[in-house]
Amino acid sequence: MKKRIVLLSSIMIIALFFVAGCDKKKEEEKPKKTGGYDYLVLVNKKNKLPDDWEEKVSLVTTKNAWNEKIQIETETFEQYKKLKKALAAEGITIELDSVYRSVKEQQKLWDEWSVEKGIDYVTNYVAVPGYSEHHTGLAVDICLKIDGELVYENDDMLKEEEIFAKIHEKLADYGFILRYLKGKDDFTGYSYEPWHLRYVGSVKVAKEIAEKGITLEEYLDSTKK
Ligand code: DAL
Ligand code: ZN
Repeated sequence: MKKRIVLLSSIMIIALFFVAGCDKKKEEEKPKKTGGYDYLVLVNKKNKLPDDWEEKVSLVTTKNAWNEKIQIETETFEQYKKLKKALAAEGITIELDSVYRSVKEQQKLWDEWSVEKGIDYVTNYVAVPGYSEHHTGLAVDICLKIDGELVYENDDMLKEEEIFAKIHEKLADYGFILRYLKGKDDFTGYSYEPWHLRYVGSVKVAKEIAEKGITLEEYLDSTKK
């Protein structure tokens, strides 16, 4: 009798673990939300930021490479810190440059860069206010610290191919993708930006995007079919 009770209890415990495991799996597969919107929200030249995004998104304040106060979506920051730590273990130092930008801030940037770099450059590298992924708080521009010196100008960062290749390899482990891929301007609308990372709220999705070498636009299209 005692033996049977022990056996039944063991079966029940195993079953409970199995059910809990399945629930956890389902939870991981559900598209996660931030401020009521999917982490996979698409903001690009054709897709404007949802109107109430800015009032709903949860942002935390931190500092960028110049010790200036900046804001970043809460979970994106947690994952960024893990990415930074993993890279530091490999001798690579990344710092935050620009993350969350309000529509007003994007306008300022757009105006300044149009004067400084000209309209062609701006069209390829800077989003029109209201259409920037930076409004989401999920887009993270990083810069590099090499031998104690900050490397943050676009042209300088484009030269650091080896370092960026190592950074890009690690992104998906923390739910980030490289948003503006080389040679994919037709899909993204922008030139290659090795510094612009995008948190997608799921390691699984980030890994699928990275393995396939596709853009967020292509990934989202493939999920509709
Ligand atoms: N640099 C990206 C495209 C932006 O301005 O949102
Ligand atoms: Zn950016």
